[in-house]
Amino acid sequence: MASRLEWMRQEVRALYERNRQRGFAPWADYEYDFVCPSMGTYPFQWFWDSCFHAVALSCVDVERARIELRSLLRNQQQDGFVAHVTFWQRERFEALLSTYKIAYRTPYLSDCMQPPLLAEAVDAIVRRGGGERSFLLEILPKLRRYYDWLHEWRDPDQDGLIAIIQPDETGLDHTPKFDEYLGITAAEMQQMNDAWERVCKPYDTHGRQPRRVFEQDLFIVEDVMVNTIYCLNLRLLARLHRSLGEEAGALELEARAARTFSSLIDKCYDPERGLFFDLAGRAERHLRVDTFTSLMPLVLPDLPQPIAERLIAHLEDPGAYAARFPVPTVSMREPSFHPGAPGQKLVWRGPSWINSNWYLARGLRAHGREELARSIEDRSVELIERSGFREYYNPHTGEGYGAEDFSWSALAVDMLASREGE
Ligand code: GLC
Repeated sequence: MASRLEWMRQEVRALYERNRQRGFAPWADYEYDFVCPSMGTYPFQWFWDSCFHAVALSCVDVERARIELRSLLRNQQQDGFVAHVTFWQRERFEALLSTYKIAYRTPYLSDCMQPPLLAEAVDAIVRRGGGERSFLLEILPKLRRYYDWLHEWRDPDQDGLIAIIQPDETGLDHTPKFDEYLGITAAEMQQMNDAWERVCKPYDTHGRQPRRVFEQDLFIVEDVMVNTIYCLNLRLLARLHRSLGEEAGALELEARAARTFSSLIDKCYDPERGLFFDLAGRAERHLRVDTFTSLMPLVLPDLPQPIAERLIAHLEDPGAYAARFPVPTVSMREPSFHPGAPGQKLVWRGPSWINSNWYLARGLRAHGREELARSIEDRSVELIERSGFREYYNPHTGEGYGAEDFSWSALAVDMLASREGE
């Protein structure tokens, strides 16, 4: 096993050299230094990608993990917001920009969020020896402002569940779970783009002010994955605060996490189907599509065991998620499930991804299912051995699709290192 880990470390080091972006950005007066998701399609800095990259970097070069987060947080706004994309070197890639659907805050920053796993990234750095007091004193106030922004602006009904206001804020751009809500009738890029415009254009009329956006009630989703990650990260942030002796701050964050946790169970869990569902609109209607995000609360170790068992049963079901190369991102029973194909542009409609596997395997381990956790991790590593670091993989054949040299697939190194107690 150690040699597999060593091989993976070398591969990740080489990948992260190829995808490293460094230079001076006059608009931010900053020497940026980060790993982009993929040189071919995504040369900029993405929020949740960078958090995953920092986790992977903590296994190979902890100083670079810190540098990655410094670049990510450099353009944090006064109100605490951190953009989901920072277009550091946009002048070099203007042609590519026309192919994206992005809401902008400035020409260099997008105006939307992504799943909030900043605290997990810092936690990985701390666990791997990079958590000097000076670093924590520098970075924790920024994290706190970011999570305060989510609390203040994204939870208008104050139930502890934060809301996203456009589909790409989940990081799961074309997931079928929003099809019905968005009025999408076929898996076609044109329909996805039109739906995005229908949601986002009206926001522009008032400069995307959060209060007005919620009043419009065009797309409000309290997403299970986003909120599971939010809950987990509030707890980790509390722990980080406590490590600096900031008890009051820690207690406040824990109280927020407790509220998120109980709302997830009270509002999102469907005991009949044994799945968690997102809440849509101010009326909080369940979006009953079975995707991997319905299983994400497994990541919370204190999820009641009877609920955890129901979720695990789906992962063990060969008709749903127990594919040869698990975990498909959509249940194979859903009519919208598609295993993927070369050149297909729609994402998150069936293929297996390494970041979702990283979470689900940890969730299984947290609920005493070590063997199943390991088999998902082993299969993930095997995907990379066979097909390289691809954006996503066919759950039946293991064939790699989407972007090549895709950086967050390097999370496999964290799967292997964590097992060795590193
Ligand atoms: C796609 C993914 C999104 C990711 C981005 C960059 O848009 O859906 O989650 O952040 O690519 O990798």
